[in-house]
Amino acid sequence: MQDRKPIIAGNWKMHKTPAEALAFVRDFLPRLAGLAGVEVVLCPAFPALVTLAGALAGSGVALGAQDMYWEERGAFTGEVSPPMLVATGCRYVILGHSERRQHFGETDAGVNLKVKAALRHGLLPIICVGEKLEEREAGLTQNVIATQVRGALEGLTPDEGRHLVIAYEPVWAIGTGRNARPEDAQEVNAYIRALLHEQFGPGVATGTRIQYGGSVTPANARALLVQPDIDGALVGGASLDPESFAAIVRAAAT
Ligand code: PGA
Repeated sequence: MQDRKPIIAGNWKMHKTPAEALAFVRDFLPRLAGLAGVEVVLCPAFPALVTLAGALAGSGVALGAQDMYWEERGAFTGEVSPPMLVATGCRYVILGHSERRQHFGETDAGVNLKVKAALRHGLLPIICVGEKLEEREAGLTQNVIATQVRGALEGLTPDEGRHLVIAYEPVWAIGTGRNARPEDAQEVNAYIRALLHEQFGPGVATGTRIQYGGSVTPANARALLVQPDIDGALVGGASLDPESFAAIVRAAAT
């Protein structure tokens, strides 16, 4: 895995009130005692961000949001801006999740604007890409991944490329209990690294962390994380329970 520190991020999606988020953290943090060599991120829904920022202070666990808009302010009812996330204590922001693409009309061009806005404001984007089942079955996985990666990263310089995390999340594996086989995920992650090499050169390609996401559990995490190009996990369902998420973190720790 070169020198890439694995990054395990919990994507809580539309789960947990602030009180529930706080209860999670109180249970979760002690379970990380003594673990090293892994970065941990929690991405709650917007209303729990402030509460979690306080609860995570000094813990070494980073805070992330699940989305944001690319403008700084203005008449965009319902949206949240990059400076708002920064002010709340976010270090990361998930962008282009397949659920946003599928249910909320997110496009590669929109993801690209969000990635640029995040970088302008010092937020580290976790950019999600992944093929649907029919695309995989039609042999289109690499085409889909290339379009999404190139679309999300269009116009970025190698200097900007240094601040990205990519999450490979095959849509058919998300929330289905059917994770990608480690060798299949490895193959796509290696391909994503080749795409990073093409745009940014070898330094950025080698240094960028590329996660796998889609039905990651304590039972399958290790087999996925030992793959040479899998540098962490983006975890949905299994991140909602403190012990199961801690077990996934342990699987990535040195
Ligand atoms: P899952 O979700 O772990 O519940 O499959 C992953 C994700 O959507 O990020």
